[in-house]
Amino acid sequence: IKVQDYRPQPFTDFTQPENVQAYQEALKKVRAELVGKHYPLIINGERVDTAERLTSLNPCDTSEVVGTTAKATIEDAERALQGAWDAFESWKKWDMDARARILLKAAAILKRRRLEACALMSIEVGKNYAEADVEVAEAIDFLEYYARSAMKYAGFGAAETTWFEGEENGLLYLPLGVGVSISPWNFPCAIFIGMAAAPIVAGNCVIAKPAEDSGLIAGFMVDIMLEAGLPAGVLQFLPGVGKEVGEYLTTHAKTRFITFTGSRAVGLHINEVAAKTMPGQKWIKKVILELGGKDAMIVDETADLEVAVTAAAQGAFGFNGQKCSAMSRLIVVDEVYDAVVGQFVERAKALKIGTGEENANVTAVVNQMSYDKISGYLDLAPQEGKVLLGGQPLGEVNGKQGYYIQPTIVGDVDAHARIAQEEIFGPVVSVLRARDWEHALEIANATEYGLTGGVISNKRERLEQARHEFEAGNLYFNRKITGAIVGVQPFGGYYMSGTDSKAGGPDYLANFLQLKSVTERW
Ligand code: SER
Repeated sequence: IKVQDYRPQPFTDFTQPENVQAYQEALKKVRAELVGKHYPLIINGERVDTAERLTSLNPCDTSEVVGTTAKATIEDAERALQGAWDAFESWKKWDMDARARILLKAAAILKRRRLEACALMSIEVGKNYAEADVEVAEAIDFLEYYARSAMKYAGFGAAETTWFEGEENGLLYLPLGVGVSISPWNFPCAIFIGMAAAPIVAGNCVIAKPAEDSGLIAGFMVDIMLEAGLPAGVLQFLPGVGKEVGEYLTTHAKTRFITFTGSRAVGLHINEVAAKTMPGQKWIKKVILELGGKDAMIVDETADLEVAVTAAAQGAFGFNGQKCSAMSRLIVVDEVYDAVVGQFVERAKALKIGTGEENANVTAVVNQMSYDKISGYLDLAPQEGKVLLGGQPLGEVNGKQGYYIQPTIVGDVDAHARIAQEEIFGPVVSVLRARDWEHALEIANATEYGLTGGVISNKRERLEQARHEFEAGNLYFNRKITGAIVGVQPFGGYYMSGTDSKAGGPDYLANFLQLKSVTERW
């Protein structure tokens, strides 16, 4: 197979009015063709409906029902698992090129439907069009990147072995079997497809359970994979409830691997139950986890103030702070604290709150549960620091009922306060005052997480020190700490943030492969 070198997709330039207009056309098309649609399960290539349904609401206007998906039962999950093992018997024999070709075709289709995917995400999870476009670019990148990665693992001898007299030795990468992919609503297009496409291109079959809040965009992506020619049973689409079908599949003896992106509590639970061997189980399940963060950005006294404030506002409030990579702790050294925090508050004041469709900077958070959880932290904020901006849930903006929360900045928070330690997953930033650089680094490392981090400084020695000592899987200097690009910044964290499996990285597919050494004596 002949492919160009991998290059990330450029983002759409929405300063061009024709691009905004094209997005608005896509919104109309999506409302006409997809909104109100019902997505059944897909098991063994067949669409299967269920008695119960999951309903997806527009978080920015909860009077709008985006659509429904089927709600899988335990029996559906069992059939999906058995069917995937049947499909695996032939899928594992496809050569890497042939499997990669399906991902490349899916990428080509998604490029053509890019703005539709953006529009659907604006409606289903409230993502503004600029952020949605970056996400669809990432979804295309995952498909393009993993297709190319697959070639690296093809054939006998794909990995180096040492020559040995009188023998032929070589290594073969083999797929694991059937796994479950449980994906989040905050990147419902890119992470959903990345977590399915990587194991699939490596020769595995996957049961994909999307988040309950974003089943439609997941269904949209599955349709693209099928249109690209993925055989029946290789990707089983199983929307359902995590505690029901998720639990059933993660504890099942026939599940070979589990890949999960979501909260730390659920991730640790999966890790625990997956470790228990079930009757009839003949392997140790592999678990790949991408969990939360309490990501910090340090600003020192040598920092460029404008760079610091821009990075802080983008990192904290992009998609309303609903990213595991979001900057939820801003650590500022005392000498520049007042100047940095003052300007950060001014910048955040200018953020527009509204819908994703109108590209507001801050939109509604995903659902009632998130809204309630964040509101609880807003209640706590005045006890743990000084509320410098926001602090209120809004419930309604411009006449639209939705899960809106004001962008909130809380100053002088103690490093051990709950709002400085617990993941809030909303537009709420804790600002921490550090005596000096060393103290700032110490505070940055004083959490159980280790996902993203950042330093805004012009002092070379400090950047070099942070390069080694700042405990984060993704560390950024003099820019925002969100928005990792596939292949450019392989993404994933340490400690309670996950298994550091680095999605969009050179070794990611190895998570879904096992190596076999074969020797022939001559
Ligand atoms: N990959 C995303 C980012 O870097 C988070 O999942 O922001």
